[in-house]
Amino acid sequence: MRHLLSTRDLSRDEAVGILDVTEDMAEVNAREVKKLPTLRGKTVVNLFFEDSTRTRISFEAAAKRLSADVITFSAKGSSVSKGESLKDTAQTLAAIGADAVVIRHASSGAPAVLASSDWIDAAVVNAGDGTHEHPTQALLDAFTIRRRLHGDASRGRDLDGVRVTIVGDILHSRVARSNVWLLTTLGARVTLVAPGTLLPFGVGGWPVDVHHDLDAALAEGPEVVMMLRIQSERMHAAYFPTAREYAREWGLTDDRLARLAPGTLIMHPGPMNRGLEISATAADSPASTVLDQVANGVSTRMAVLYLALAGAEGAGA
Ligand code: CP
Repeated sequence: MRHLLSTRDLSRDEAVGILDVTEDMAEVNAREVKKLPTLRGKTVVNLFFEDSTRTRISFEAAAKRLSADVITFSAKGSSVSKGESLKDTAQTLAAIGADAVVIRHASSGAPAVLASSDWIDAAVVNAGDGTHEHPTQALLDAFTIRRRLHGDASRGRDLDGVRVTIVGDILHSRVARSNVWLLTTLGARVTLVAPGTLLPFGVGGWPVDVHHDLDAALAEGPEVVMMLRIQSERMHAAYFPTAREYAREWGLTDDRLARLAPGTLIMHPGPMNRGLEISATAADSPASTVLDQVANGVSTRMAVLYLALAGAEGAGA
């Protein structure tokens, strides 16, 4: 794997292969010394033009656990604020000797532009671009589901027949898009639930069922309910009447939590708006995988960096 730009590019076997390498990395992360020499001498640059907590720190932890040198770059406080272009920034990173660039950018397609340019000869990993994709989030979500459902028998398995209901701000969600492509490639049956205002144009062509009634969708008994953050920072209009009405119609409230079948997984990519798309009780319940997702994010990003930078050379795991 040279670059990771999208989950849409992955075949079923490639996706299962990444999840299996993630298993190897999770075993390393369960050891007392969570370290491999695999990427010694390589330089990974985290290039974040948008805010992040989970993705940025987990890529940093992942690269360090693989013994890479890590440079973390935030646009805030850099020469980007003086108007420096992506091209000049990339060429600066090339001069520093970056072997991999993990990029988060507000513009959909920025990682693909970087990967196809001759500005830098580095592996490019998309850490979230605009409303397009967030492939490592979907991989860590799929890994979390597979582990919760299949435990020690996960290796080599896909998610055939698993029913996943994704709820909320689909319109602005790169997490939803990456999950739709990846989960359906792995054989899951995906249902999207949202008000019509928060569904993207063209969703009818996606390989999913679409519902507007959350209670009806939950009554179908999905194994996984994935709640999405309302992305107020990307909203320049009123997409629903009030936060209170949104929570009542589309939120995972205490009442809906009580009606979920035992064993239903509750997922959220974070950061959460508690009391809006998810109640605090649901977020903190034993069914919630929120912190598992964060922990699995480190293993997933170790797998992705390893495959992009060491690949067939051998993991040493
Ligand atoms: N899930 C996710 O991408 O979180 P951050 O924005 O904190 O990285």
